[in-house]
Amino acid sequence: MSTDTFELFGVETDALAEHGWVVVPDFLAPSSLDSLREEARRLWSEGQFSSAEVGQGKSLQVRPEIRGDLTCWIEPTSASPGIATYFAAVEELRQAVNRRLFLGCFDFEAHLAVYPPGAFYHKHLDRIPSVAHRLVSVILYLEPDWRGEDGGQLRLYLGEGGVGPTHDVLPAAGSLVAFLAGQVHHEVLPTNRSRWSITGWLRART
Ligand code: OGA
Ligand code: MN
Repeated sequence: MSTDTFELFGVETDALAEHGWVVVPDFLAPSSLDSLREEARRLWSEGQFSSAEVGQGKSLQVRPEIRGDLTCWIEPTSASPGIATYFAAVEELRQAVNRRLFLGCFDFEAHLAVYPPGAFYHKHLDRIPSVAHRLVSVILYLEPDWRGEDGGQLRLYLGEGGVGPTHDVLPAAGSLVAFLAGQVHHEVLPTNRSRWSITGWLRART
């Protein structure tokens, strides 16, 4: 393995280890983001998205007053070049996370998500008992030219137990945010514009 390969995402995973979260601007090239956006729109027009649910086990429910996004699971075997590039890049990140954080991230799952205008997702943790194998949350944003007044910021709660200072991430195309799924409480503020993203989780062996 070359030194370059070894250092890929070294700075980012150091920050993840130190703070529990990190933002990686320009995670993918613009051409890959274009391809991902196109594929997301295509899957949407085919009716492949469904309203995301909250709760666990038998009590899973669509509750737009808690979370208003629609999601569509994607696979690394997809014929879309954008999706293939995305999974390859996250695989590099997964290996870097394992080298630096010793979390034992074994594999990865991901879905496209869209928050229509007015949608939000109340404050929560991604690692709950029903999905305890989710170790690191990884979200890549797809919409270009996102401005503050478009809303839809991801608000991270930086204090232990979801209190204390916050940090808002603008969901701008190409930005990737990664955080420890069992530690960092977060919410999606109401969006004023359709907000497209891919949410994924590095997972422990189940
Ligand atoms: C989630 C989530 C945040 C975002 O899907 O669990 O918190 O910025 N998404 O889309
Ligand atoms: Mn979440």
